[in-house]
Amino acid sequence: MKNHVKIEDKIKNFKDDIYVSGDKSISIRCVLLASQAIGISRIYNLLESEDVINSLISIKKLGINYKKIKNYYEIEGFGLEGYNTKKKITLNAGNSGTFARLILGLLVNSYNKIKIIGDKSLSSRDFKRITEPLKKFGAIIQSNKSNLPVIIRGSEYLRPINYIEKLGSAQCKSAVIFAALKTPGITKIKAKKSRNHTELLLKNLKVPIKVISKKNFDFIQIEGQHNFKSFDYKVPGDISSCSFFLVLTLLSRNSQLTIKNINVNKSRMGIIKILNKMNANITFKNKTNYKGELISDIVVKSKQNLKGINCPENLNSSAIDEFLIIFLVAAKAKGISVFRNLGELNKKESPRLNISIEFLKKIGVKVTRKKDDIKIFGNPNLKLDKHYVIKNFKKDHRVFMMSCIAALTLGGNWKINDKSCINSSFPNFLKILKKLGAKIN
Ligand code: S3P
Repeated sequence: MKNHVKIEDKIKNFKDDIYVSGDKSISIRCVLLASQAIGISRIYNLLESEDVINSLISIKKLGINYKKIKNYYEIEGFGLEGYNTKKKITLNAGNSGTFARLILGLLVNSYNKIKIIGDKSLSSRDFKRITEPLKKFGAIIQSNKSNLPVIIRGSEYLRPINYIEKLGSAQCKSAVIFAALKTPGITKIKAKKSRNHTELLLKNLKVPIKVISKKNFDFIQIEGQHNFKSFDYKVPGDISSCSFFLVLTLLSRNSQLTIKNINVNKSRMGIIKILNKMNANITFKNKTNYKGELISDIVVKSKQNLKGINCPENLNSSAIDEFLIIFLVAAKAKGISVFRNLGELNKKESPRLNISIEFLKKIGVKVTRKKDDIKIFGNPNLKLDKHYVIKNFKKDHRVFMMSCIAALTLGGNWKINDKSCINSSFPNFLKILKKLGAKIN
């Protein structure tokens, strides 16, 4: 079966309301926390993508049952000691860095050896960033250099640690928080700001966690070994999936979109802040607070006079998954855009900084790079009329989706490979584009 799409026409103007699928970070955290709670949790609007399905299959291997009933998933946990780790088990994280890193945190007390494997892309990503702190708790970890497979064997004698998280990585912070849940005493973390869904979920579950928020860092303390009860949760829409539709609308003519029920947690708002600084006029409607998370409808309209940005570095973490699509806006904006210190982008599902530069050059946009800083020389008259083939991007779902948005807004004749990679995070992506009128073969 063919695994590419062909796009030969720009999208026509549209005016519509859409929903995107549930947030990936929150979905995976809900699965993991429900698997460690006492009793049956119910998770509504769980993202049904490969990253989340792999998380469900993995908790099942650890002895936790789940089932789908109507529009929710039931997951029955048996508390913090509830995983069955007596046998040696292999868990396949597929493409999901979040699941692979977070489950390692929950396995610091495993009885036997548990092996974590992943697909080709995940197997080339850095795991030292998480195995180092987990060893300090007392877990025994074997790995080949810094990569998967990682084999973890827990300890009965865990000790709390003091940990400084300097990368702005929510995965590292969350894995350490998860390990702290299993550990007697108080674990102390100083973490560069990053998404805080784990902290909000745990506060809601009445786990003793304290967070003191400073300008660039959060100071977090967790008292371990407190069981928590099962819970119900409605996962809000994913701002990262939403971002492709924000840019589709901005770069199209005479169009307007309301994207409903999106998680607009401040730690994820980089995309909105950056686009609005570039002259977009993205607004919020029906804001509510749900269990500590802010949820809102987002309204976006086409915009002609976008301008370049000197992007403040302190927005990097809150837009970390959105830079591919932000660079596309910079390519079409007036003036030069500057982005700094984006080395972390090369640690994602593909080396996204390198791939973005290659992509922009392919479509005729001038880009310069100095170490991890890049300058994009925007051109508001950018119109494409050649044949573009997008391949060899390590099946990175966000590269695929960004390429579709480029094709639908800039013109040209495109063949974009590895369509199935959208199943990692956003299986409905092409369906929603078609609903808006996109012609995609
Ligand atoms: C995520 C954190 C980010 C992000 C990833 C999801 C999470 O990774 O890129 O897609 O759910 O915690 P890092 O923590 O490595 O920055």
